[in-house]
Amino acid sequence: MKNNKKSSYLSGREIRAIAKQNKKIMMSLEAKKHRRAKEEEFLCEMKDPNNILEIDDLHTYFFTDQGVVKAVNGVSFNIPKNKTVGIVGESGCGKSVTSMSVMRLLQGPTGQIYSGAIRFAAEDKTYDIAQMPMSEIHRIRGKEIAMIFQEPMTSLNPIFTIGDQLDEVTYIHNPEATAEQAQARSLEMLKLVGIAAPERVYNSYPHELSGGMRQRVMISMALVCNPRLIIADEPTTALDVTIQAQILDLLRDLKDKINGSIMLITHDLGVIAEMADFVVVMYAGKVIEMGTVQEIFKNPMHPYTIGLQKSKPTMQSDSDVLFNIPGNVPNPVNMPTHCYFKERCDRCCDKCGGDYPDMIRVSPTHYVSCHLYTKEEPNNG
Ligand SMILES: Nc1ncnc2c1ncn2[C@@H]1O[C@H](COP(=O)(O)OP(=O)(O)O)[C@@H](O)[C@H]1O
Ligand code: SF4
Ligand SMILES: [Mg+2]
Repeated sequence: MKNNKKSSYLSGREIRAIAKQNKKIMMSLEAKKHRRAKEEEFLCEMKDPNNILEIDDLHTYFFTDQGVVKAVNGVSFNIPKNKTVGIVGESGCGKSVTSMSVMRLLQGPTGQIYSGAIRFAAEDKTYDIAQMPMSEIHRIRGKEIAMIFQEPMTSLNPIFTIGDQLDEVTYIHNPEATAEQAQARSLEMLKLVGIAAPERVYNSYPHELSGGMRQRVMISMALVCNPRLIIADEPTTALDVTIQAQILDLLRDLKDKINGSIMLITHDLGVIAEMADFVVVMYAGKVIEMGTVQEIFKNPMHPYTIGLQKSKPTMQSDSDVLFNIPGNVPNPVNMPTHCYFKERCDRCCDKCGGDYPDMIRVSPTHYVSCHLYTKEEPNNG
């Protein structure tokens, strides 16, 4: 490639070359998504039967004309049964793309799961979601795994009542249901999410409800089919603080009521501290630290996790200046081979210019990817 001046400018010829190469890869991945496949091709075994979800070396890419955006670049973590796992990191680090990969909601042909496994223990079978053709996704999406999005208004249809939209979910998954059964289930779910006048809400249109109420409706919609895993992507970011607390309380209660697991995505460490059993910290498409909530809050090890905690405002802090981790995330099209945090890190050492740091186990549940904790190579001499 001629572009040795390290400029981000690409000539027309370079863009055409990238587009041609991308097209070939995208076509083959699209063909795989729409293939007819025997069930054996996407059934698998969990590595640990205590997990509901195991994400294993997941790579999710966007094939753009500027190059390949490695939005999720080798991510691995587990969600144990009946636990809440919080995924945290600055905006753009790949949290939503990870969840969209699990739900297989990536916008093709540009967005594609390039490699890796997403093992999910459904009620009777274990699937590798990454290998499933799109025609089989209905087995899990909205049924075994449900998703709650940040902005409920964009997920609810403005021209149908809440009741119509809730009943529809029952019909999709249980076509034999009668109108009475569907309505009874919808009202039951509205009650479960703490709506005091379920009949009134059932007959309302989305615009007639407040933001907090709409989010409750979205949660009830996610619950209609008794999902084993709920993915909540910034579920409270669009709400004001009091309502935010109520929705979080609701989610916490529900996890036990429905006997399921939650993958909670947020950029807010405060939310994680209150809600999660385990925490996964992402940076620039990779997991850089993970552990139990106590480990991550009492003993954060990665300089980025430490920085995130410093940048969180607290009631006790007497400073009115918020700490900000200096610098920017590297260009996702052209990631360095060394630690992605190097340019922003205040604890950089000699090793940091070398290879990307391996994930090191510091306790049975605590892992960190940083050279500060890599052991010296044994001296062979
Ligand atoms: N449709 C897309 N095309 C190209 N790049 C995308 C697309 N969607 C997301 N990305 C990139 O993927 C990265 C991760 O995005 P995302 O998962 O949405 O971040 P967040 O952690 O804020 O949820 C970002 O660098 C973003 O620019
Ligand atoms: S590997 Fe080095 S540059 Fe990266 S976070 Fe650790 S100390 Fe900082
Ligand atoms: Mg997001």
